[in-house]
Parts: sequence; C-alpha cells; structure tokens
Amino acid sequence: MANATAVINLDIEGPKISRHLYGHFAEHLGRCIYGGFWVGEDSPIPNEGGIRLDVVEALRALNIPNLRWPGGCFADEYHWKDGIGPRDQRPRMVNTHWGNVEENNHFGTHEFMALCELLGAEPYISGNMGSGTVQEMSEWVEYLTRDGDSPMVRLRKANGREEPWRVKFWGIGNETWGCGGNMRAEYSADLSRQYATYCRDHGDNKLYRIASGATDADYKWTETLMQQISCFGCEATPKNFFQGLSFHYYTLAGPWEAKGSATVFDTDDYYRTMASAQKIDRIITGHSTVMDCYDPGRTVGLVLDEWGTWWDVEPGTNPGFLYQQNTLRDALVAGTHFDIFHRHADRLYMANIAQTVNVLQAMVLTDGDALVLTPTYHVFEMNKGHQDAASLAVHLRTEGARRRVGDAELDTLSASASVKDGSVLISLSNLDAEEPAEVTLDLRGGSIGEATARILTADGLQAHNTAANPAAVRPRPFDGLKATGQGLALTLPPHSFLTVQTSLG
Ligand code: AHR
Repeated sequence: MANATAVINLDIEGPKISRHLYGHFAEHLGRCIYGGFWVGEDSPIPNEGGIRLDVVEALRALNIPNLRWPGGCFADEYHWKDGIGPRDQRPRMVNTHWGNVEENNHFGTHEFMALCELLGAEPYISGNMGSGTVQEMSEWVEYLTRDGDSPMVRLRKANGREEPWRVKFWGIGNETWGCGGNMRAEYSADLSRQYATYCRDHGDNKLYRIASGATDADYKWTETLMQQISCFGCEATPKNFFQGLSFHYYTLAGPWEAKGSATVFDTDDYYRTMASAQKIDRIITGHSTVMDCYDPGRTVGLVLDEWGTWWDVEPGTNPGFLYQQNTLRDALVAGTHFDIFHRHADRLYMANIAQTVNVLQAMVLTDGDALVLTPTYHVFEMNKGHQDAASLAVHLRTEGARRRVGDAELDTLSASASVKDGSVLISLSNLDAEEPAEVTLDLRGGSIGEATARILTADGLQAHNTAANPAAVRPRPFDGLKATGQGLALTLPPHSFLTVQTSLG
C-alpha cells in the first residue's frame, strides 16, 4: 500500500485557476449537436426553441464557463451565413470530415447564442480560416457584436436580434497543421495575423483572439507562432495580434491505429492510458517554456482547446461519429488532467474537453429521450469549486506511489487544492488499480472547520453508466476522514477520485 503526505500551506495563495480551464466543446460531429443539444422545436423531447432542456439542466450543474463551437475540423468548412435566417430556407452542405452526412444548418449562430444563454456559458466561436475568407470572418464578428447601424447589424436585426451579443473568445482557424488547411507553421502564423487584423473590437466588445496552435509536443510550432505574436517595430507600443495560443492533446492507450475499446480493456491498457494522461504535464511545461522566451510577462494565454480520451467508436455506430462510452478510467483521466491544469494556472488560461455531448469524452450521452451522466461528468461537478479559486500548492511526499509503465513512470497519486472565499477544496486521485493509499493531509498556515468528502469509484475500472443502470458510477459521501493534529487522514481506495471540502477556521 502506498503512503503519502500532502503538505498544503493554506495561507500561501498561488495563481488563480481560471474558470475557463473547465471549458467545453460542441462540434457539428455525429450526435453532439443534432440529437444531443438540438432536437428542433417540433420534437416531443422537451425543448426551448429546439434546444434540449434535459441536457441544459444537467450541464447547468457544472457551471460551464465557455462553450467552443462549431468545430474542430468542421469549423474550417463552415460558412456562417448558411446558418442564419428562416431554417427551412437555409442551404445544406456535406459534412465531409464527419461521416459525410448532410448538414441542414438548422443549428446556426442564433441557436448557438441561445444555447450559451441557457447554459450561462460564454461563447467561444471558432472561425473558418481553412476554406473561408477574411471578409467572411470579419463580417461574422460584426454580425454578432456590433451595435448601431451597419450592413451586418441590419442583417442581424432582420433575423430577429436587435441587440448585439457579447462574444469574447474568437478562434482563428483550427488545427491549421492538418484538417484546417495543412499549412506550415510559418504560413499559418502569417495568415492568423491577417485574419486577426480584421476581427475587430466593435464598441466595447473586446475579442480574445486565439491562434490555432500545435498538436501534442510540437514546440517548434508554438515557437514559430510566438515569434509572430506581435508586430515589433510597427508601433511605438507593440500590440499582440492574438491574446491566446491553442494546442491540442488527446489521451490514448496506444497508437492511433489501435486505440482500443472504451469499455473492454485490461489493467495494462489502463496504466498506459494514465501514463498518456500524465504526459500533458510535460507538454504544457514545454509550450509554456517556449512562450516564456517570447512573452516573459505572460500576456498570452495558453489554450488547450481540445483534450480528452479517444477510443474506438462503440460497435455498430458510424465510425465518423466518434461516439464512445465513458468509464471510471475516463473519470480518472479527467481528475488527473485537472490536477495538472491547476499546477499550470500561471500560463494555462483555458481548456476545452472534447466533447460535451455524445462525442469522445462526453459529459452526457443521449439516446432518443434518454440521458445518461457519465463518470467524467461527475469529476467536472465535484471539481467545480476550483473555478476562479486561488491555487494552493500541494507538496506530495510519497512512498510506493509509482509504477513503471513501459519506458515511462506513472505517479499513482495525484492531488490539487484551491481556496475561494474561505472555502478550501482538495482533489485527490489514487490511480493504482489494485492498492489503496494512506494519505495524510498536512494542512499548515491556518486552521480548518468541519470537513466533508465525496468519493467517485466503482468495483471495476470498466464500470460505466447506461440508461438501464444510470448510477453505476456516481459520487457518494465518504465517511473515512479522520482529524489529525494538523489536518486530516484518509485511506483512498484503489482507482478512486475524492474531493475534500472544508473552510478556513
Ligand atoms: O474533436 C474531434 C476532432 O479532433 C476535432 O474536430 C479536431 O480539431 C481534432 O482533430
């Protein structure tokens, strides 16, 4: 059994954990939008203006800070003017990236903004740089955010929306190294500068422009983009063209060609998955280090706008729809990511799980009128108190909490902590598949009030929720907290995620 002491100084606050690290992603892919978020006004499934209300209700409990849309790869073949005006007159297109299915454009700009309003989430719009034009992107910003009178404002008003919306987050392309145009980094950097120039701040709506960045550990891409971040010498005070730089990282148990099943896997697959998840720490450090060279004042945010597990699609489903089940393993991947994100709060500004409904590592799965909350959903819910809290460094001293996984080492204990308005939240994961871990929380620099804990675990790593058994994996109260002279002690069962909530005394 592993032993660990986690030393936390309650009186030394670290950088703020941006709430946007708990961001989401909805693409026109498979059943994420159609059948997931959107059922149409005539559906027997309860909806508001076509948007599914059971999905909205479930997601509101997560305090979703932002929602990225319309892609992904789809964003770079999406032409926004096809998605406005009377629905029955909207042009159709083929979604060539995802299943070659026909897209009827019934879910467009107005529907997305209504969805964000229902969720209480900020919109993050991903503009088309791969097959669109500078004018098209510029006009989309004008349509959404300009007040007064202008051609795009008149068009918006004709479509029933008087007031401009507020949109902060604006993506300039997506995966430009691949599906977004197969560009070289140098070309992508120049093009991003050009597009960003014409994505104007209208009135007091200030855009946070996010340049499409690297995949995985492609630090060279990040360096090339960072070299072009501002026009040094053009103005007395150089201004950044983009405020954020993205990168993507997916967790797999092996190579892309052999991703494996979401639910049928063995312990070795599980440990490989966890080792792959923990790699994100090194990768964030790599990108941040490169960014520090060009932006030592950290004015540019690092944005991981796609992350999560990627398995084979569920048997019998469309391979282009990326529909996968979600087990306790996925939940532990999420918990581990969040601990790492919190440690990088000084540079990592936003992260978006791929994707929110029915695609990849989803929060909710729908089937007709049925809705199931996944184990990953529960991690987002249990961790929501970290949003916009001050991070507290966790110094972990462990014994026996390491495993060799191929040529990598896996830390089987993971933790993070934060404080907000006098309320302390500590997240702990025991990633060991078989062994429990004894953990002492050595809380210094302050006293605490009463502590409560919740635990997410199950008999097997493969446990998952279905319509027939929707609560196989769900958080339960944990009554194993023991007060010590200077904190708390507990035994973490194998493969478990746990949160401790307390207050500063
Ligand atoms: O999330 C699925 C796809 O993964 C996105 O469309 C793309 O950006 C990435 O390759």
